[in-house]
Amino acid sequence: MDLSVFKGELNGIGRKEERKERAELLVLPTIYPMKHSSLEDPLESGSMLGSFRDLLEGEKSLKKYIEDRLKEKRGLAVGVEFGGDGESVFRDFSKNFFHKSVGVCLERYANTPNDISMLTNFNGSDTTHYILTGDMFTEEVYEKLASDIGVKKVDLILERMAAGLLTVSEIPLDNIKIFKKWYEMLNVGGLMFVQVPNEFGDILKRWVDFVKKNHKETLSVGCADDGCGFGVKVVRVHKLNSGAPDKLPLFENN
Ligand SMILES: C[S@@+](CC[C@H](N)C(=O)[O-])C[C@H]1O[C@@H](n2cnc3c(N)ncnc32)[C@H](O)[C@@H]1O
Repeated sequence: MDLSVFKGELNGIGRKEERKERAELLVLPTIYPMKHSSLEDPLESGSMLGSFRDLLEGEKSLKKYIEDRLKEKRGLAVGVEFGGDGESVFRDFSKNFFHKSVGVCLERYANTPNDISMLTNFNGSDTTHYILTGDMFTEEVYEKLASDIGVKKVDLILERMAAGLLTVSEIPLDNIKIFKKWYEMLNVGGLMFVQVPNEFGDILKRWVDFVKKNHKETLSVGCADDGCGFGVKVVRVHKLNSGAPDKLPLFENN
């Protein structure tokens, strides 16, 4: 991928270490053990629906929005939550909608990086749910996903890290790389909903406008403020048909 078009966005270099340190000192010990949120439990104010509500094109339910768009994959769908164990989120979908679901997060059940837990008969259904502990910014996680869990392509990606975003690099280029990877992982018809650091919000907003103008027949995209008031941006990408570019379409940075 030629990332030179994003050259103007590289100003943040050098601040990454500082940010990581701050996150380790202030955030990791207190935030990470928190309960992982549901998809849209009405009794839970901070559910995923809360964050992504302004990306649903008038639909009120995140579950319905996703299941309607993935209806041809019912029973076969594969979904991943990055930055969460995925348990509460995937429990909220209709029984047997997903064939396989995965949560990728730093902690859970083990301190060992790249450890995998497998939950069969998940939620009383045929779905198998996996929890992979690892850093989603490393290649090892994607190798494990492919070789041990058999997940190379997916129908749904969710990422809503909330306070966990404080540990993410504020350098847009780092975020572009992961965004590009996730885009390529999506099957035709696949959807992703992701929350991004504010530093990446502006470039993403411009990308969304570019896609709306140049790829509207094959990609449906949206960008909004996080509806839970986390002060960050959220983005939706839907590969509408086989005409969607295989690689993340890039725009000129002028
Ligand atoms: C505040 S919790 C949010 C959990 C859940 N997604 C939710 O919305 O409630 C932050 C999560 O981000 C995960 N996380 C932070 N940085 C990560 C990284 N580099 N790779 C994988 N997971 C990460 C943490 O392990 C934690 O599960």
